[in-house]
Amino acid sequence: MTDLDADGMPLADYVIGTPGPRRRPRVEGPVLVARDVVAGYVPEVDILNGCSLTLADGELVGIIGPNGAGKSTLLKALFGLIPVRRGAVEFLGADISGLKANQLVARGIGYVPQVNNVFPRLTVQENLEMGLYLDAGRFAERLASVCELFPLLGQRRRQRAGSLSGGERQMVAMGRALMPDPQVLLLDEPSAGLSPIFQDEVFVRCRRINAAGVSIVMVEQNARRCLQICDRAYVLDQGANAHTGSGDEVLNDPKVIELYLGTLAKAQ
Ligand SMILES: Nc1ncnc2c1ncn2[C@@H]1O[C@H](COP(=O)(O)OP(=O)(O)OP(=O)(O)O)[C@@H](O)[C@H]1O
Ligand SMILES: [Mg+2]
Repeated sequence: MTDLDADGMPLADYVIGTPGPRRRPRVEGPVLVARDVVAGYVPEVDILNGCSLTLADGELVGIIGPNGAGKSTLLKALFGLIPVRRGAVEFLGADISGLKANQLVARGIGYVPQVNNVFPRLTVQENLEMGLYLDAGRFAERLASVCELFPLLGQRRRQRAGSLSGGERQMVAMGRALMPDPQVLLLDEPSAGLSPIFQDEVFVRCRRINAAGVSIVMVEQNARRCLQICDRAYVLDQGANAHTGSGDEVLNDPKVIELYLGTLAKAQ
């Protein structure tokens, strides 16, 4: 019998495509750096109190931490959605602290927000077109490449994004961010709200996207799974760096287990 998803579609449709070989030339030094970033939403209220982060070429870096720690805020500061009050954000060695999101997309940074990350009234294809409005002439070529990673998007091209399941919408959101062929992808809780099987799929996909040459910063509430797949991780707490290390180091750090991974981690 064929396994079906919640919408009655065959699970086989979710098979992950194989990424092509890494096409991007290697970059010396870090691709993205946050240096002692101070940022916030309301004047004189700082949410980030000097956050730092380094993303090397080809890395998958995880950010974990309690609710309200400032994880989403850090991604927004990296992507020019809130002003950097002090400190700096650098991309490929250039200061990008004052640049706006559309300028950052043009330079090679993609971002998938935590919520409201698709246009529900538009079709899958229209959502993907929105991702490439700066360079519409490359649509066919980029669509083919994104559909290699997410075959389901090709099959559901004409369906409205709002009619898709949560897992499928997440694929649309990630596919849209990948349309301009970014060098860096910022993902805010890509597995949130998905059933365990799809959470796992998201992590596998992120590794595949990463293997295809896209450096990734991933914020995750599923801390253990994130630490298992990431190269390095940052634990944020109250808008500042609390712990840093390889995924394994952070996963097995008694302090991190005690404070951030909870009793579940201790039991396992
Ligand atoms: N648009 C906003 N305006 C004002 N304050 C905000 C806004 N968004 C977030 N904050 C505040 O900034 C702080 C950090 O929020 P943020 O969303 O970055 O946390 P987070 O680590 O992503 O948490 P979660 O795990 O719940 O997603 C919180 O105190 C929150 O109330
Ligand atoms: Mg968040």
